[in-house]
Amino acid sequence: MLVHSGHAVARKFFNPATAPSYDTIVSITTFGQDARWKREILELIGTANAVLDLACGTGILTSLLQRSVSPPRFVAGLDLIKEYMLQARQKADLPLTQGTAEVLPYRSEVFDAVVSSYLAKYVDMDLVAEECWRVLKPGGIVVFHDFTRPSRQAIISLWGCYFSILRFFGTFFRSWQVVFNELDSVISQSQWVAKTQQALRRSGFKDIVTTHHTLGTAAIVAGRKP
Ligand SMILES: C[S@@+](CC[C@H](N)C(=O)[O-])C[C@H]1O[C@@H](n2cnc3c(N)ncnc32)[C@H](O)[C@@H]1O
Repeated sequence: MLVHSGHAVARKFFNPATAPSYDTIVSITTFGQDARWKREILELIGTANAVLDLACGTGILTSLLQRSVSPPRFVAGLDLIKEYMLQARQKADLPLTQGTAEVLPYRSEVFDAVVSSYLAKYVDMDLVAEECWRVLKPGGIVVFHDFTRPSRQAIISLWGCYFSILRFFGTFFRSWQVVFNELDSVISQSQWVAKTQQALRRSGFKDIVTTHHTLGTAAIVAGRKP
């Protein structure tokens, strides 16, 4: 299996100890913004019929994707970590595959949309973009969402305070301690927005649009396969 340096970080953060409490932690630590960001993703893909949730994790977005249209659309999920997928399995009855986003185990041109929440900073985006291009039908949409380091000075100060508080809580929530300690530097060092825009352009995607959310703490990059 292909190994990227981001895989080691992902395996450190997402493991059997963090899987059971992931949904609660992501909702509390984003002050509910996670649900808002995921609704933006749903809006971007509209009624797309066959959707792949890349890095589906515990299946929060995966199950929303399935339930948000009637009749339910076809949704598949892929993730690196088995314990996270076991949580997803409890939410929705759909095809889940363990693997890496850089080498997709799907036939070419089978999906109308590929979406992904919090994956971009852990992967080789050139490979992921090429694979998304391959599995998307013509006209298909790709959407990447992840955290970003804010750029406005006042917000950077708030962001610093927020992670200091999170590090303090990490002393009580030991399974999350390493995430609370290291997530801010992983986000700061990641150039995922620029890398994703570049990788999508290189793969041939058009209509690439980037939107920034919640005081610049998250972004969504979307593109269309002509
Ligand atoms: C923060 S969780 C997000 C899960 C889900 N997308 C959500 O929004 O709740 C990040 C997920 O990315 C997965 N991941 C990280 N690197 C990956 C890779 N190379 N291929 C597939 N999944 C990966 C992790 O296993 C983890 O489940």
